[in-house]
Amino acid sequence: MSRTTLIAANWKMNGDISLVASMSAALKTAINPNSRTQVLICPPATLLAGFTGDRKFALGAQNLNEQASGAYTGELSAAMLKASGCDYVLVGHSERREIYLETSHIVSKKFIQATRSGLRPILCVGEKLADRESGATKQVLAEQIDAVLEISEPADWQTAVIAYEPVWAIGTGKTATPEMAQETHEFLRSYLASKAQTANIAPSIQILYGGSMKAANAAELLSQSDIDGGLVGGASLDPESFVAIIAASQ
Ligand code: PGA
Repeated sequence: MSRTTLIAANWKMNGDISLVASMSAALKTAINPNSRTQVLICPPATLLAGFTGDRKFALGAQNLNEQASGAYTGELSAAMLKASGCDYVLVGHSERREIYLETSHIVSKKFIQATRSGLRPILCVGEKLADRESGATKQVLAEQIDAVLEISEPADWQTAVIAYEPVWAIGTGKTATPEMAQETHEFLRSYLASKAQTANIAPSIQILYGGSMKAANAAELLSQSDIDGGLVGGASLDPESFVAIIAASQ
C-alpha cells in the first residue's frame, strides 16, 4: 500500500506573526506540488488568520474542545477551527495528556468531535520512559487506541492520522532509532489491522513519527516502511530546518 507522506509542524505555544510570514515565504518555494509530501502547519490558534493568500500547505489546530459549543470558557470548538481554515487537529498530544490531565477518554471524545465535524484528527499516542524500560510500550499504546475504539465507529477512522510520539523523545534531543520507531509503527498498524473497526483502514492510515525529528535524522526515519511522515516541534520553528525536513521527505 503506497501512502503519501505528511510533514506536520507543531509550533506549540511559540511563534508570532513574523514567523507566519517567514514560514509562508519559505514554503512557497520548498513545496513541490508534484511530490508525494503534504505539509501541515499547526500554529497557535491566534495565528491561523495570519496565513492569508494562496498556499500549498494545510493548516491545523493543536487542540479542540470535545463539546460542540456552550459555556466552556477559554475553549475552542471544531466548528471555530474549521471556520479559521483548519483541516486537521492534533488530539491527545502528550503535553495535553500530562500537563492538562486529559484522560484517554477525553482524548477519544475530542477525536470523535473532530472527525464528525469534518476535521482530520491526528491522534497522538506514545509511551513514557518508564513504560519503555519496563517493556510496557505496546500495552500503553494499545490502551490509548482502545479508548478511542470504545466510542468510535468505522467511519470515524476514515480521515484519521496517528502520530507516534515516544514521550521520552519529545523536546529532549533523544530520538527513537529508526529501527525502534519502525518496530513500534509496525505494531500500531498491525494492532489496527486486528480490530474489526479499523481493519480496512490499517494499510492506508498515515502513521507519523514525532520526537526530536530534525533535518539530520529525518531521511533515515522517513525511509522506514511504516513511517509516513513526521510531527515536528522544535525544528518547525525555524523555516530553514523545517524546509530541510520537507526536502528529506521528497
Ligand atoms: P519535538 O516535539 O520535535 O520538539 O520533540 C514534537 C512534538 O511534541 O510534537
